[in-house]
This record gives sequence, C-alpha cells and structure tokens, in this order.
Amino acid sequence: MSDTKRFTRAEVSSYNQKDNNVIIIHNHVYDVKAFLDEHPGGHEVLVNVVGKDATEDFDDIGHSLDAKELMNKYRIGELVDEEKAPEIIGPQYCNVTVVKKEGFLTAWMLPIFLGIITTVVWQYFFN
Ligand code: HEM
Repeated sequence: MSDTKRFTRAEVSSYNQKDNNVIIIHNHVYDVKAFLDEHPGGHEVLVNVVGKDATEDFDDIGHSLDAKELMNKYRIGELVDEEKAPEIIGPQYCNVTVVKKEGFLTAWMLPIFLGIITTVVWQYFFN
C-alpha cells in the first residue's frame, strides 16, 4: 500500500489560506508556501493559483527539467483517483492506427499469378 496522502479538489481549495499554499499540478498536490519567495517566476503568480489546479499555467510557461525536479521537494500528495484529470500523455490517450502488414503469401500472389498467365499465353502462341 502506498502512503501517499490523497486530497480531494475541495480540500485543496479549502487550503487557500494564509498558512497553506497548496496547488495542484498534473494531479499532484504541492505546498508551495516555503517556495513562494524563491520562485524565479515570482511570488505573485503562485499566490494567484493557490487552492487551484495550476496545471495549465504551469505548462504554459514551459518549465525546465530542473524546475520539474525541484517540484518533488514541495509535493505533499496527490488527488484521489476519482478526481484526477486525464493526462494528455499516456498510452490510453494515444490513438495509434496500426497498419496491418501484408503477409508473405498475399504480397507475392499477384506477381506469381501474372507469371503463370504470361507463361500460359507464351506457350499457346509460340509453341
Ligand atoms: C512547485 C511548483 C513550481 C516550481 C518548483 C517552479 C519552479 C520554477 C523555476 C525553477 C523557474 C525558473 C525557470 C525554469 O527553470 O523553468 C520558474 C519560472 C517561472 N514559473 Fe514556476 N514553478 C512552479 C510553479 C509555477 C506555477 C504554478 C506558475 C504559474 C501559475 C509558474 C510560473 C512561472 C513563471 C511565470 C516563471 C518565469 C518564466 C520566465 O521568466 O521565463 N510556476 N518556475
């Protein structure tokens, strides 16, 4: 059993208070209180999304890999499964069309058939 703390969206929005600065990014829950003043993007942008799902805002900036690693430090849990947003990247959302490869026999059927016809016609006219 995982001991990850699970939050509902309602719980996260109720944390929109002075002592808790909790936000949701990609279904994970972060407490950014200790990070507010260190955030290179500024204190204000984070305060504006406290209690909310900031996934879109976070992605819009195109945060670096370093930023994504740094996030782990502030992660306090994740959303309950029923309230998770479908993530865009993942096998279940990739609608890949698989093109069936032709079998060996099917691929050679036409040339072999044409060969036989040519042989028969050749025999008929020239022998
Ligand atoms: C735990 C969550 C977050 C962490 C650890 C984090 C970290 C960082 C870091 C390290 C940078 C410097 C640039 C980079 O390395 O990509 C940055 C820039 C920035 N971040 Fe965040 N960030 C977080 C959440 C957010 C959110 C939710 C928003 C928007 C609501 C945001 C808006 C910005 C902006 C506007 C910049 C400045 C980009 C620029 O100057 O080009 N960040 N962040």
